[in-house]
Amino acid sequence: MKIQLNARNRAHHFDAAPADKILYAGLSQAIGLPYECGSGTCGTCKARLLSGEIDDAWPDAPGRKYFKHADDFLMCQCSARGDVSVEVASFVEDFDPGVCVPAAIKGRIRSSQMLTHDVIDLHIDIDTPMDFDAGQFVLIRVPGIAGYRGWSMVNYERGARSLQFVVKNKPGGKLSEWLFSSSAPESRDGAEVELFGPLGSATFYPSIAKNILCIAGGSGIAGMMAILARAAGENYFAEHSGNVFFGVRSMKDAFYLDVLSRLRAQCGDKLHVMVALSDGAASAADQAAYPLLAFDTGFVHLAAERHMQGRYQGLRAYLAGPTPAVDASVRMLLMSRVSSDNIRYDKFS
Ligand SMILES: Cc1cc2nc3c(=O)[nH]c(=O)nc-3n(C[C@H](O)[C@H](O)[C@H](O)COP(=O)(O)OP(=O)(O)OC[C@H]3O[C@@H](n4cnc5c(N)ncnc54)[C@H](O)[C@@H]3O)c2cc1C
Ligand code: FES
Repeated sequence: MKIQLNARNRAHHFDAAPADKILYAGLSQAIGLPYECGSGTCGTCKARLLSGEIDDAWPDAPGRKYFKHADDFLMCQCSARGDVSVEVASFVEDFDPGVCVPAAIKGRIRSSQMLTHDVIDLHIDIDTPMDFDAGQFVLIRVPGIAGYRGWSMVNYERGARSLQFVVKNKPGGKLSEWLFSSSAPESRDGAEVELFGPLGSATFYPSIAKNILCIAGGSGIAGMMAILARAAGENYFAEHSGNVFFGVRSMKDAFYLDVLSRLRAQCGDKLHVMVALSDGAASAADQAAYPLLAFDTGFVHLAAERHMQGRYQGLRAYLAGPTPAVDASVRMLLMSRVSSDNIRYDKFS
């Protein structure tokens, strides 16, 4: 099938196999189509059908609430039945050279392990080596469950054969029920999954040469771990500061504190890591167990606001986690005069 996509700046032409979602077909041919979640909720991939016919895999997708016209559709949910012509309201460029081009690949859950009562550490071995940047995510699909889910990589490497994730249980969620319903999550080990990626622009490269601010809610810490691993590996915090705010409800919801402590020890005083507990203060024993980490109470964006005052110059912010936490953090940063191009986020919508 031939897809003609008219953007504000120019037309793009690409092919799509039957049942291929138009968004994934374009991205896998290095065309920078607009998207955020890649999975039907944000509405960013909205396009308008000019000619031809499409199939919609998820007619109830929440992202449809942004539609203004009967011919609007979500490129991440729709495939072409034959040749189609569509238009999007934004500028669309080809990928810059060196950007990792996403592809559909297959994988198998290698191991899973509970990190807290509702967060799992999960490794997936993949059939084809994947290049990705620190801070990116993939879409995952499990046979028998409709649609893809975004999961952010904890590890960072080129030519990766294995991807590491932290996944939080969403009560009532379909994939969550599949992953967490058994008393032994490792019963999913060996299960086959489909992936599409890498995706996302909340990426870190040492060449940005800016101070880093990371604000993560819960499993939003995943991509931050990749960013910190890359920065630590390149001795980035010898020159630039890093401030990490990790928000969880209470200490029973916290994880990776040992890894964060080790990174703090490795990188020195320019890296500052604070755990913000929204349901109450850390005990003296908890603080003594993690002497290199700081603790505060309250929502994570408010902890960041308190501790970052006057320190927003020359900064790139990375935000990830539940939508309300990311939205509140974006508002706080804009009010603090951080420019929108220095605010990168993934909303776990
Ligand atoms: C960019 C991004 C990165 C993310 N990274 C992480 C992470 O690192 N760790 C983590 O725990 N969570 C992450 N999430 C959230 C995660 O993708 C899931 O939303 C969450 O795990 C709950 O999935 P669920 O199936 O249990 O819930 P559900 O409510 O059943 O589904 C959640 C999502 O699945 C998709 N979906 C549901 N039904 C359909 C359908 N019928 N057809 C098509 N699609 C459907 C939709 O996108 C929906 O929002 C991320 C989300 C995004 C957008
Ligand atoms: S990218 Fe399609 S709805 Fe978010």
